[in-house]
Amino acid sequence: MEKRKNNIILIGFMGSGKTTVGISLSYKMQRTFSDTDKMIEKREGMCVSEIFAAQGEDYFREKETELLRELKNEREGQIFSTGGGTPLRAENARLLHELGTVVWLKVSAETVCKRLKGDTTRPLLQAADPMERIKKLLKEREERYASAADIVVTADKKTVSQIAAEIVTALKGGTA
Ligand code: S3P
Repeated sequence: MEKRKNNIILIGFMGSGKTTVGISLSYKMQRTFSDTDKMIEKREGMCVSEIFAAQGEDYFREKETELLRELKNEREGQIFSTGGGTPLRAENARLLHELGTVVWLKVSAETVCKRLKGDTTRPLLQAADPMERIKKLLKEREERYASAADIVVTADKKTVSQIAAEIVTALKGGTA
């Protein structure tokens, strides 16, 4: 078994606040922050919904896996936010574990629906009934998020700064 790296990786559903919390955490901990969706978009020269439309979801998922393989070899002591589907592939879950401490920002379907109302950037949520889609995907995914995570922080009805502070405490060995 490979040694785990000292990075912090935020996982969780779309709209759980991974990017904003990651940025807040990077200030609190004085660590470099990167968002894996943004890294893929930069490499591909397209935003996520354009990649889904032009190349399909499987292509995007392959890019996520390729990126994680690289990050695992190159990065140490950093903070990453990931796409909501990243931990779903078994290989990705293993790569995330090797990349560092995995923190799941757990949110309810109601929170996601409220935060992403009118959002057009998430291809998987462009449905006639977004709430129904969110509930279905959350149900399918929660077990995967739970098994990929070292730390679980409930992110409903909390400020970004509060969530980041809870993560810092949990990383020090306190409870989240
Ligand atoms: C996805 C989440 C998105 C993005 C893509 C697919 C998912 O990232 O990776 O649209 O499968 O949950 P965010 O979680 O940052 O919205």
